Amino acid sequence: MQYIVDSAHLEEIRECVEFYPLDGVTTNPTIISKEHSDFVKLIKEIRAIIGAERMLHIQTTATTSEAIVKEAVALMEAVGGDFYIKVPISPEGLKATMALKRMGIKVTETAIFTPQQALIAAKAGASYIAPYVNRLDNIVSDGVHVVSEIVEMFKRYDIDCKVLAASFKNTEQIHKIAMVGAHAVTISPDLFKKLTYHPLTLYAIDDFQKDWESVYGDETVLDLLEEK
Ligand code: E4P
Repeated sequence: MQYIVDSAHLEEIRECVEFYPLDGVTTNPTIISKEHSDFVKLIKEIRAIIGAERMLHIQTTATTSEAIVKEAVALMEAVGGDFYIKVPISPEGLKATMALKRMGIKVTETAIFTPQQALIAAKAGASYIAPYVNRLDNIVSDGVHVVSEIVEMFKRYDIDCKVLAASFKNTEQIHKIAMVGAHAVTISPDLFKKLTYHPLTLYAIDDFQKDWESVYGDETVLDLLEEK
């Protein structure tokens, strides 16, 4: 599964690159606006931090297909590397997706809430579709179930489009999404920490350390190897 960080906070992104096997970054206008920053400088800095090989998904703010296509081209030129334009699903968004596909520009169709939206976006040429798990859960729907239906449909029709599950508030949602076979998740930096934390792991590491020190004191494995 691909793990992507849903953030435009430079320090958070830097930390995720350093400590986790990160596949990319997603943003949206809400995430970008939280930074109160020079937009162009910000997206270029994100690219510099993650390098050219990791995915960078940036959302369009345009609403007509022509304007979406123009924004996609300009954004791709600005940030370079492995770039995806995030396009919220709508008739204009789908028209833009089909045009971008013909131009060889990769699209992540976003704001997906139903399997049929996902299927049509994939057919229009999206490389990823992004269903919003927690927002579905919040309206007494079932985000994991919706994602599982999309994964199943893509398999059944042999569709070349990946499911990038988004909008998470806890680790249980992420685990269940992994169990239904989504290809990718985009999560907050805080959820990266929570996914890898367990108190029993900390106890185990502490016990290993104490047992080692009871015999070897503060000498490390390397110290002992270098003494030979
Ligand atoms: C990602 O691409 C989405 O824009 C994002 O995950 C939405 O998350 P939210 O529901 O926490 O705003």
